[in-house]
Amino acid sequence: MKAVVCRKYGKPEVLEIVEVAKPTPKDDEVLVKIFATTVHIGDTRIRKADPFLVRLVFGLFKPKKNMILGMEISGIIEAIGKNIKSLKVGDKVFAYTGLKFGGYAEYICLPEKSKSFTKNGLLALKPENLSFEEAATIPAGGLTALKNLQKANISKGQKILINGASGSLGTFAIQLAKYFGAEVTAVCSEKNFELVKSIGADKVIDYTKEDFTKINEKYDIVYDAVMKSTKAKCKRILKENGIFFKNSQLPKTEEKDLLFLKDIIENGEMKPVIDRIYSIEQIVEAHEYVDKGHKKGNVVIKID
Ligand SMILES: NC(=O)c1ccc[n+]([C@@H]2O[C@H](COP(=O)([O-])OP(=O)(O)OC[C@H]3O[C@@H](n4cnc5c(N)ncnc54)[C@H](OP(=O)(O)O)[C@@H]3O)[C@@H](O)[C@H]2O)c1
Repeated sequence: MKAVVCRKYGKPEVLEIVEVAKPTPKDDEVLVKIFATTVHIGDTRIRKADPFLVRLVFGLFKPKKNMILGMEISGIIEAIGKNIKSLKVGDKVFAYTGLKFGGYAEYICLPEKSKSFTKNGLLALKPENLSFEEAATIPAGGLTALKNLQKANISKGQKILINGASGSLGTFAIQLAKYFGAEVTAVCSEKNFELVKSIGADKVIDYTKEDFTKINEKYDIVYDAVMKSTKAKCKRILKENGIFFKNSQLPKTEEKDLLFLKDIIENGEMKPVIDRIYSIEQIVEAHEYVDKGHKKGNVVIKID
């Protein structure tokens, strides 16, 4: 099968399209023919070995043999292992691939039921009202935003400020915060005001013109989705007992969380924001674009 491998750390040009062996599902796995994946910021961090910790996990001097990036996928089940109970050939699915990565390929094997979200990923039937390109954007950003907001105990009537509101996490977080009944202030640049308002932001702040940590407002929650601020800086805009958080130490993530996202999407309460769609042959260009740090929502790779 065709796959994009990363044999060296470095610039996007290290990504190579090659032929590798098509995987065979184990008894408890399904074989998915991948239709779409994404260029997640996590993929670019592994490729760049940034932070250094990447090297300790994925290989000190170069990534382990034939490392295939890609943390989220959508596709159709082509074959199943003999112990599979709830899925069948032909089912349309979407998945987080976890530390297995492997999304930049024509096929991937994933377990039907995962014991560990980070190790083995999570798979579910894809939302019926989304295309494969749209569905592929949900698992990583959607689950991260959801678990973060749940951990902060977001509730109806609260005021939340989301920093980095136009990115992948930000665009999911705005919609989820609105779903949970909060009032949302979105911090992004002016060019993205229309976008963030269209998905529910009540108020907007342009980070290039105003320092949001200096405004005269108090929030129940400040979510630094883009990871560019600190709790100390945000202290003065937090209410007493207000919560500041970034994207670390998420609680356990399970299949029910992915199904929760599927449900609210099918009910029309959340939709993915897609900035650009590239073909797999344009993988280098797609990584170059994401490296710039200004994508709006998500960047998708279509696999024919
Ligand atoms: N996505 C995930 O699933 C996930 C999971 C865990 C951790 N993280 C981490 O969370 C962070 C954000 O991830 P992401 O996927 O949401 O990133 P992203 O989609 O690449 O974020 C890009 C967006 O951030 C905005 N931005 C850049 N600098 C900003 C600033 N100083 N203030 C406000 N907005 C700014 C950009 O808008 P402009 O064009 O206006 O600059 C752009 O729309 C990253 O550090 C990532 O490693 C992400």
